[in-house]
Amino acid sequence: MSWDLGAGLDGRVALVTGASGAIGRHVAAALAAAGARVVAVDLDEAAVRAVVAGLPGNGERHVALSADLRDLDAIEQLVQRAVAATGRLDVLAHVAGVIKRVADLDDVTPADWELQEQVNLRATFFLGRACARAMRAGGEGGAIVNFTSQGWQSGGFGGSAVYAATKGGVVSLSRGMARTFAADGIRVNCVAPGMVESPMLRNGLPAAQIDGFVDQIPLGRFARPEELAGAVVFLASQHATYITGATLDVSGGLLMY
Ligand SMILES: NC(=O)c1ccc[n+]([C@@H]2O[C@H](COP(=O)([O-])OP(=O)(O)OC[C@H]3O[C@@H](n4cnc5c(N)ncnc54)[C@H](O)[C@@H]3O)[C@@H](O)[C@H]2O)c1
Repeated sequence: MSWDLGAGLDGRVALVTGASGAIGRHVAAALAAAGARVVAVDLDEAAVRAVVAGLPGNGERHVALSADLRDLDAIEQLVQRAVAATGRLDVLAHVAGVIKRVADLDDVTPADWELQEQVNLRATFFLGRACARAMRAGGEGGAIVNFTSQGWQSGGFGGSAVYAATKGGVVSLSRGMARTFAADGIRVNCVAPGMVESPMLRNGLPAAQIDGFVDQIPLGRFARPEELAGAVVFLASQHATYITGATLDVSGGLLMY
């Protein structure tokens, strides 16, 4: 095999969830810049259309879809709509996620639990499975990149133990899917952001506590949202063809494993 610096994503189709979020919009842009045709998905159709309109290349090459990932029927329909619009599916970048921070674990409600479990963990299984079916039907394998969090290993900071548990589940699930789908040439990996400058980081946390986090990050700052996109492109690319079941720590050294 001759060495080619390209990502090998030219003409490939990548479905990106959470595509109008802080990180997801950069993941969509990076995959489009690498040559992929992007199917961008989020809750709000207008927001996801705006992201698609700004993608590198021709905005019309890409597709904007809205779906609520809490809804299992909507997940199945989403994958069918994506394949109907583009004819194939090669990459899933599953970025969507939610956090419900509480000051005290006594304040966690069943609704908090259900929301985080459904969006962060349950959707990862049902969406990943539906995408793997579509990839298998395409006959050329594929790559799934799920989003976990430093919380999968740390247990979470700032009242986010439930969120952390769902993200731990994402790692276990990704490893199980990696083993199962390997026979079909489908790789499954995780990106684990540390602390990313974003509304998700700041929501519900006092400024002093946030400053305290920075002191523990060897690189001395939070990630910029776009700094997560390269990890996704790498794991989806031809440079990662022997990587599956891995969790890539993108935490500025906050955690090292
Ligand atoms: N921001 C951070 O510091 C940080 C740290 C660690 C991990 N992460 C993870 O990175 C990913 C992206 O985070 P972000 O900072 O971009 O957050 P964000 O809130 O900006 O983006 C998340 C996106 O998911 C979408 N979403 C939420 N519920 C949905 C549902 N039911 N159906 C469809 N879409 C839904 C939201 O609309 C939003 O656009 C998440 O999985 C998050 O858990 C973020």
